[in-house]
Amino acid sequence: MTGDVRIVPVRRADLSVVGALFEVAFGEPYGEAAMGDLLKPPASFGLMAELDTAAGFAIASVAADEAEILSIGVAPSYRQRGVGRALLRGVVERAAQKGAGRLFLEVGADNPPAAALYDAFGFRQVGLRRNYYRRADGHRVDARILAYTIPQSRPGGRQEVTIP
Ligand SMILES: CC(C)(COP(=O)(O)OP(=O)(O)OC[C@H]1O[C@@H](n2cnc3c(N)ncnc32)[C@H](O)[C@@H]1OP(=O)(O)O)[C@@H](O)C(=O)NCCC(=O)NCCS
Repeated sequence: MTGDVRIVPVRRADLSVVGALFEVAFGEPYGEAAMGDLLKPPASFGLMAELDTAAGFAIASVAADEAEILSIGVAPSYRQRGVGRALLRGVVERAAQKGAGRLFLEVGADNPPAAALYDAFGFRQVGLRRNYYRRADGHRVDARILAYTIPQSRPGGRQEVTIP
């Protein structure tokens, strides 16, 4: 069910909303100032997903022809309704407009819902950082590096799809 998810750009005035979304999505505090640092245009951009209210966010950056998702989260009460997928689509579209051909992200090896989302979307593992994350209880978790090849649009609106 993605039809009624609206994807909108994050503006400076939305930063407190995005910060609140980060906190409910990840269960940890994230300051508005730091969130603003992640959103330094033109290299970085943020998207918000709205249903009846703000439901999720994504922050990404683009350098040359590579894009990276820096953070993505959906409020618990809006999960498994297609919001995460809609945000990924929005990031891909915006990154492609900015000239990116590949989209990267890092995901904890202890995060099956995120892994399922990325796998279903078409991301493939291209690397592993051992013991990269430190969880609240102190234990270390590997980061899997995933990549997605962004389909290039052609004149005439046809899409070339690269099967990873
Ligand atoms: C990961 C996260 C963003 C997914 O958002 P979401 O809106 O629930 O994802 P969607 O509803 O768009 O799911 C799309 C697909 O992902 C998979 N998926 C998502 N959540 C899943 C879960 N809990 N279990 C199994 N599969 C899941 C399914 O294949 C799903 O497709 P389907 O509904 O047609 O079966 C969300 O769980 C979240 O915010 N988690 C906490 C923050 C986080 O871990 N962020 C990612 C850090 S790398």
